[in-house]
Amino acid sequence: MESEIQPQKEAHRSSEAMDSELSKLGSNLITKFHVLMRISQIYDSKNVALNQFIQESLLAINTFIQKDGNLCLKIVGDDIFLNEQRLRYSVEGFNSFKYLVIQWKKRFIGDVLYKEVLDEETLREFIYILMGLEEGREENATLFNEKLRERHISSIEVGPLEVSEREEGAYILEKEDSREVAKKVFFETIGTFKEVMTNIKGKQHADVRKLKRLVRKAVHLVMEDESILLGMTAIKNYDEYTFNHSVNVSIYSLAMGRRLGFSRGVLSELGITAMLHDIGKSKIPLEVLNKPGALSDEEWGQMKKHPLTGVEIVLNLKQLGEVNAKMVVGIFDHHLKNDLSGYPKLFRKKRVSLFGRVIQIADAYDAMTTPRIYKKVPFTPEQALAVMLKDRDVHFDSILLKMFIGLVGVYPIGSLVLLDTHEMGIVFRPNPDPQWMERPQVILVERDKRGKGMKELADLTERNGGNGFKRSIVKVLDPNKYHIDIAKYFL
Ligand SMILES: [Fe+2]
Ligand SMILES: [Fe+2]
Repeated sequence: MESEIQPQKEAHRSSEAMDSELSKLGSNLITKFHVLMRISQIYDSKNVALNQFIQESLLAINTFIQKDGNLCLKIVGDDIFLNEQRLRYSVEGFNSFKYLVIQWKKRFIGDVLYKEVLDEETLREFIYILMGLEEGREENATLFNEKLRERHISSIEVGPLEVSEREEGAYILEKEDSREVAKKVFFETIGTFKEVMTNIKGKQHADVRKLKRLVRKAVHLVMEDESILLGMTAIKNYDEYTFNHSVNVSIYSLAMGRRLGFSRGVLSELGITAMLHDIGKSKIPLEVLNKPGALSDEEWGQMKKHPLTGVEIVLNLKQLGEVNAKMVVGIFDHHLKNDLSGYPKLFRKKRVSLFGRVIQIADAYDAMTTPRIYKKVPFTPEQALAVMLKDRDVHFDSILLKMFIGLVGVYPIGSLVLLDTHEMGIVFRPNPDPQWMERPQVILVERDKRGKGMKELADLTERNGGNGFKRSIVKVLDPNKYHIDIAKYFL
């Protein structure tokens, strides 16, 4: 049956993922563009305050043009393509990315081609014409080109937003409000956590108040609908493992805590503890943390210190407010394992704390399902759960593990599945009714006639008219084999 679906060809892959240098240049370009677009709405085009921002954007654009001969910036769905390559989201770049896509779409501008190196004046004119366009006018691209010609600018050409993007409803997943809020909280939390960690590393003052605020927001979101934030954990395409990992562990822990019936107050404590569980790693040299090969005994020794170092750091974080024992012990415990065979070694036996047991499960699951330098192809969610179940008594609290499996589902959010209709789907939201655990909502992975990716949501409880179901899951597939970027479907 699997042979019905051919893995996409390698050639396609190159257009899907951009190499990391290009991706950095691209993110920088979008950020500069974002700032310039915003500034142009505050100052008029002659204002000197603009100069610095024009210069910075110019440098970013011209770097591309000098490299490739030209630069084409195109919007396809919710993605930005730079010279035919899709730009990956980055933590810092997320807001700029969103802003640019929204502003261009509102004005029905779909692509811009810069044919030669730009000068200051040309870029200035370009930005002011762009931002001056009336929103919602179909003929904006034509008008734009006319205005450029009037000003004798022949180095830039713009194109309209493609009809399919706005009329054919290629993206029929509605943009729910809480999903947008969740995205914002998710990315802001990663960014804020990164700041805190960097400050601790550099022995600078780390302000954790913002982090606490964000965790409270996350608690609110989890109480409302845990599946939205859980969906964010499927976004694993960052190079910055530690930050992404810490936030994911916090989300899984919150969802578990909610099922354990914790109050909002305790959930906030659990959320922040989970977020800070690996904070001790900020004192481990990067060469050790990111070492592709096996660690030496000495390096392992350093690694094993991180729970204790984490405790020390947390005790010194003034703005954490009252640090209670639950938080400190939770961090200390997160590698102890159920039978205490983990680390640190204890002088006297004790029971692993509840926070520690929750975090241990969330930590193991996220670590296994995320690509790492020393393990580029991660476990699928199904494989990870199988491994965890195998040595459940050694590593985990088996009751909590059962609860965790119930939470992520038989088919965890982000799993790629094959359906009996020969379609492929990505699990988007688990079925809230335990009776229908194997019938989640999935996003169908499809391409239209023009080969463009489509997103259509299907509910697997939908009947086919008779007694059967319209679609059922046949088996779980490995997304790496099919070159499918799961994260894309959750942004
Ligand atoms: Fe850890
Ligand atoms: Fe961890």
